[in-house]
Amino acid sequence: MINLIFKRYLNKTLFLCGITIFFINTMHGSYAGTGKTNINDDLFLQNRDINVNADNGKINEAEGESHNPGKNCLNSKCHGGGEEHFFAGGTIYQDPEGTGGRIGAEIKITDAHGKTETLTSDQLGNIYTKTSLNPPFTISASYKGREVKMPGEALNGGCNANGCHVVGAADRIFISIHDLDLTGTVTESGGEISYTNDIKPILDAKCISCHKKGGQRSDTPLTTYTEVTDPKLITPGDPKSLILQKLNKKSPLGTMWVNLKSMSDYKKIKDWIVKYNAQEFSTTGGVAVSDAKVKLLQNGKVKYSSITDADGKFTLNKVKAGGYKLKVSKDGYRTSVQPYQMYQRNVAPLAITLEKK
Ligand code: HEC
Repeated sequence: MINLIFKRYLNKTLFLCGITIFFINTMHGSYAGTGKTNINDDLFLQNRDINVNADNGKINEAEGESHNPGKNCLNSKCHGGGEEHFFAGGTIYQDPEGTGGRIGAEIKITDAHGKTETLTSDQLGNIYTKTSLNPPFTISASYKGREVKMPGEALNGGCNANGCHVVGAADRIFISIHDLDLTGTVTESGGEISYTNDIKPILDAKCISCHKKGGQRSDTPLTTYTEVTDPKLITPGDPKSLILQKLNKKSPLGTMWVNLKSMSDYKKIKDWIVKYNAQEFSTTGGVAVSDAKVKLLQNGKVKYSSITDADGKFTLNKVKAGGYKLKVSKDGYRTSVQPYQMYQRNVAPLAITLEKK
């Protein structure tokens, strides 16, 4: 009986110790890198011992073994600080739903100072690093000749954190072996600026992340011609149209310049509204270019190629994700060369225009 009480007492003490020391541990973590950490070293050792004891009290999970795929490993109770501090960690899957972990994918993380860490996903699809890295990070993942880049920068290393790659928020990070087709149309550029050929690509790239349904500025969507040419935003021919004032870096209203950040794009949008009266299609362009060669190159080698049909349409079959050079050419036209990043979902058809020589 006494024995039992004693055991209980001991368990309780250890449990409390675990918590207290864990707190110090967390502080230790948050000081890491300031050079002020050594004072805690004794406690740190102690912490280790207690953790081993506490293991018996089932406070800790098995150490050293990869576990908990899909969970946020960088939270304060796990690897957010202390001795087992991860600077980046997450799980890579075979599909966006997160059905199974992808084993053997290579994840490259480049930090704010250009330091690069390459990690290989383990038997659960997990990756993590204790190497000190400073956010923001640029991240890419590759697997068997496919490379997917994270479109923006990651502001912290917890890939599975809320708001990052969890099912329900943004999807899981994945690399699939099911490659998608890349389709598109090649037309003649008419030298006129039109919404479809010139303006939509700018707005799609720089504006609609906020100006669409579900975005930060969903009450002013900019995803279609009708939305963009709303009389509130644009008066054809008028340089004082609200959208131009919002984009003008010198205007007191010009809060949207930071999102555009390109004089040539600004000039294009201005000419479109003032010179071309915000037309939807150019009158001379839009003619299909047949028999044009469409090629995707990597390191100077042609990886995929196709020829446009009578309607200017083409399909490149089962293109592996990765960065390419897209080259479109035909006699009598200026060759168009541009970088192209192939992804594994939401691959939009390409609209390419060729200029006559
Ligand atoms: C990061 C989110 C974000 C991006 C990207 C963005 N906007 Fe905005 N936009 C806003 C917010 C928020 C407002 C309201 C505050 C303001 O006017 O500064 C706004 C306001 C506007 C307005 C005034 C009408 C209104 O809704 O109040 C126009 C026009 C506009 N944006 C155009 C653009 C264009 C064109 C681009 C692309 C070059 C762009 N925005 C990119 C967030 C964004």
